[in-house]
Amino acid sequence: MTRFVNTVPLIDLRSDTVTKPTQTMLDRMVQAELGDDGRGDDPTVKQLEALAADRLGKEAGLFLPSGTMSNQVAILSHAGRGGEAIGEADSHIFRSEMGGVSLLAGLFPRPLPGTRGAIDLASLEATLRPPEMAANRLGTALVCMETTHNAAGGAVLPLDHMRRVYGMCAQKGVPVHLDGARLFNAAVALGVSAREIAAYADSATFCVSKGLSAPVGSVLTGSAAFIACARGYRRMLGGNMRQAGLLAACGIVALEQLVDRLAEDHVNARRLAQGLHAVDDRLVDPAAVETNIVMTDMRATGSPVQSWLDALAKYKIAAAPAQSGIIRFVTHRHIDGADIDRVVAAFRELYATQPRRPFTA
Ligand SMILES: Cc1ncc(COP(=O)(O)O)c(C=O)c1O
Repeated sequence: MTRFVNTVPLIDLRSDTVTKPTQTMLDRMVQAELGDDGRGDDPTVKQLEALAADRLGKEAGLFLPSGTMSNQVAILSHAGRGGEAIGEADSHIFRSEMGGVSLLAGLFPRPLPGTRGAIDLASLEATLRPPEMAANRLGTALVCMETTHNAAGGAVLPLDHMRRVYGMCAQKGVPVHLDGARLFNAAVALGVSAREIAAYADSATFCVSKGLSAPVGSVLTGSAAFIACARGYRRMLGGNMRQAGLLAACGIVALEQLVDRLAEDHVNARRLAQGLHAVDDRLVDPAAVETNIVMTDMRATGSPVQSWLDALAKYKIAAAPAQSGIIRFVTHRHIDGADIDRVVAAFRELYATQPRRPFTA
């Protein structure tokens, strides 16, 4: 193993949520004008909410502590109890939000199959119904989309797909929520504004705490009436944060200064994918890497994911287990091209030295 391993800093590719605030964020935090946001009088929070609403082309915004709370507040605000919530089966809302769709909002989850995070349109057509309950069936209360799609390896929903989903829902009078935790990664990858993507949803949320480097927070956007309702649900869930301008100040810097550089994360993700592909072409398909997430299929190596994570940890490389047999690497502001080359070199060395079971098909 390479000698300098113990003297080098951790290459932390577990998530873009590990990003630390920039110096400008810290400076703006100190200077931020504050109030009690629970009473609606923190000017810095208001500024972030207005800026976010403008960037997404919506009437109003609401600052929340997390992407999960933002999604849950959106679901509660769109839909009463008793209808169906449709989304792609592997979406964050269905897989990672602890059943909030049913346990909090009282909706019946209808996960539909998808390709790279995009709901199968024929299944949607067959499942979608007007929101009113029919005599013996639940109506569709809400449809959710997710871009970029986390479990699909940062896949970006094609705009045409979003347009068709939104159109189908509009015809039936069903509202659409967009989980855009990494919406700005999608915008940068597509070369369009976030507003052009959010146009295909009634409400849209994004996180400032992921690749945009702010320490905490998400903003939910939608019509003024929707956000007024969401404000009540935020309070119900304990999401009022008082002098939250400290955090909102970082969110403002995130939107003003950190969006364009996401392209660097995408370049580094592709570099990683290409490097790993060169080690073993079954590990990753570089063409599948559209943004800052690289799903690496370790099943080809015949060794369990945990043994790879342990081996990488000895090289001071951290990654996260994803679905069974898959390791997820996420690039971000603290990762540069040299880090990526170190990860690829570690893989190459491990491939050469680790005993492996024969490859499985
Ligand atoms: C697509 C998506 N939605 C929502 C979330 C939740 O965000 P948070 O961790 O801020 O609750 C995540 C987090 O990774 C995500 O990837």
